[in-house]
Amino acid sequence: MDRLKDKVALVTGAARGTGAATARLFAAEGARVVLADVLDERGGKTAAEIGESARYQHLDVSSESDWERAVEEVEREFGRLDVLVNNAAVLHLATIEKTSLKDWDRLVAVNQTGVFLGVRAAIAPMRRAGGGSIVNVSSIDGLEGMNYVGAYASTKWALRGLTRCAALELGRDGIRVNTVCPAGGSDEMAAPWVPAGAQSTSDYAEGRPIPRRGRVEEVAALILFLASDESSFCTGGDYPVDGGHSCGTYLGSLPGADGG
Ligand SMILES: NC(=O)c1ccc[n+]([C@@H]2O[C@H](COP(=O)([O-])OP(=O)(O)OC[C@H]3O[C@@H](n4cnc5c(N)ncnc54)[C@H](O)[C@@H]3O)[C@@H](O)[C@H]2O)c1
Repeated sequence: MDRLKDKVALVTGAARGTGAATARLFAAEGARVVLADVLDERGGKTAAEIGESARYQHLDVSSESDWERAVEEVEREFGRLDVLVNNAAVLHLATIEKTSLKDWDRLVAVNQTGVFLGVRAAIAPMRRAGGGSIVNVSSIDGLEGMNYVGAYASTKWALRGLTRCAALELGRDGIRVNTVCPAGGSDEMAAPWVPAGAQSTSDYAEGRPIPRRGRVEEVAALILFLASDESSFCTGGDYPVDGGHSCGTYLGSLPGADGG
């Protein structure tokens, strides 16, 4: 397939998980891909596995100077930037009462400021390329509330606002901006945080139309659609890839439950 033929893409948080799956899919679709992350060894390995069309770049998304350098290098090496996927994020699980200001600020710096810096850095090169597509990775926690994720969810809701404003400002430059909202991704993100017994498959399953977490390849498929010209009329939108988890409340005792 060649849905990204001749395109140059930058994917943040691409050393592993959803970002790595996205970079792999982009390369398979004909793109040249820059994988950016702070996990340099793993990022370099992932890029090497993908092959000649991929390269690794150290980029801490919360650093303004890292963004300037990264975008400059992409343009110098590949001549253009067509697609940016703002995927990098960190998780912090705690009740609001137990969330320190330091942890709050850290999440905002990476998950929210990092996306702002990325969108801003991509504008000039995308204008020079005659347009582009920016995909911001939010979460089901950017569509709903959930106990234990107050700081994380706040950053993920913020991306949907930034996406709309950016779509309004950049539409006439041919730059589309969208958000994807997955329920699922890499297990490595949540693994260190989840208390024993919580967030089990059954927690996810109860009442959900598709009763499981999403796989990274399923999220990457939606990102590809939004990155490619197949989504040429889509901008400013939030797209769930959540197995219907954000549909609403499921009352098992009422008609309509379990197919009854
Ligand atoms: N894992 C899930 O269940 C889940 C659910 C919904 C949404 N998401 C979202 O999907 C996206 C991808 O997450 P994932 O599931 O692949 O998790 P992950 O933890 O495997 O991937 C996140 C990547 O971001 C990188 N990263 C962290 N801080 C960074 C920084 N300052 N600069 C650059 N890179 C940095 C990490 O090193 C890692 O490679 C994130 O935006 C996440 O919030 C994940």
